[in-house]
Amino acid sequence: MKPKYLSLKPFILWKRKKRPIEWQRVFGRSAGLEVEIGFGLGDFLVRRAREHPEKNLVGIEVSWVLVRRALRKIALAGVENTRVIRADARVCFERLFSEKSLGRAWALFPCPWPKKRHVKHRLFTHDFLKLLNSRLIDEGELLIVTDDQAYLDWIQAQVSGTGFEPYTQFIPPRFLTKYERKWQGLGQQRFFELRLVKRRHMEIKIKEETALITHCVDHFDPKGFKPLNGRGEIMVDFKEFLYDPEQQKGMVRSVVGEDNLLQNFWIEIVEMEDGWHIRPAKGCSMIPTAGVQRALDLVRNAT
Ligand SMILES: C[S@@+](CC[C@H](N)C(=O)[O-])C[C@H]1O[C@@H](n2cnc3c(N)ncnc32)[C@H](O)[C@@H]1O
Repeated sequence: MKPKYLSLKPFILWKRKKRPIEWQRVFGRSAGLEVEIGFGLGDFLVRRAREHPEKNLVGIEVSWVLVRRALRKIALAGVENTRVIRADARVCFERLFSEKSLGRAWALFPCPWPKKRHVKHRLFTHDFLKLLNSRLIDEGELLIVTDDQAYLDWIQAQVSGTGFEPYTQFIPPRFLTKYERKWQGLGQQRFFELRLVKRRHMEIKIKEETALITHCVDHFDPKGFKPLNGRGEIMVDFKEFLYDPEQQKGMVRSVVGEDNLLQNFWIEIVEMEDGWHIRPAKGCSMIPTAGVQRALDLVRNAT
């Protein structure tokens, strides 16, 4: 079988780590921390790591396929100063990076979502810029490079009140990423670089986690068990229910969406001496949130 990753060492199982992450401990050294948001194929991440061995680099990407490809590239390049997270960048900055911990963040050719009805998907909103500001050190910077003038204009309109001072310039192709090559191949010879330098600190604390309350009920009938899904700001969907009569144990696959976080985990309903316990199943990595609590409560209500 063809090896897919070569090494999983750079991959951060962030749900299993204490949050915010102690990056010095992860890298085993103290060094300037940089982040690349949406690293795609990982070419720039790897090159930056190789050219700046004095930095610690973290790459964030939502796509599993791309994380896999980047892990392979990191291993082939033999760079030791890079780590990779698969998650939505908004969740990462809310939960994994302390205030004033990052020297620089890069976003090369972020998705411009050009259609009007897709504008809501754009990442660099006013609120996201404020969040990024809070995670950067004083005078730290965010570098956004785009081929898309309309997207540049839109981001520039988000900057006021985020504590950043913007600098915009045309730049030639210089990052050698897939999207840069794509636009260059179609004849584009210059791109827009928006450099946002932090001049004023925006205080945004790390997102708090919930102390989960598990439940214990006297009776449980697996035959009639049908938990109701939850709607509203917190979305809870129960996808399937499995029951093992020998172990006296039920398992409910739950999907919970809240803020920018989507979690997929199992809730177990297991008989013990004092009754049926309802709790997140062992081994599931999830973040204890109000949404997880809601899912536990909905399961309890259905017993
Ligand atoms: C247009 S591609 C650019 C990729 C790469 N930087 C390049 O220049 O080739 C945008 C990338 O951002 C990733 N992405 C989009 N939204 C994201 C988010 N909220 N958090 C992390 N990555 C995201 C996508 O999966 C995609 O790989």
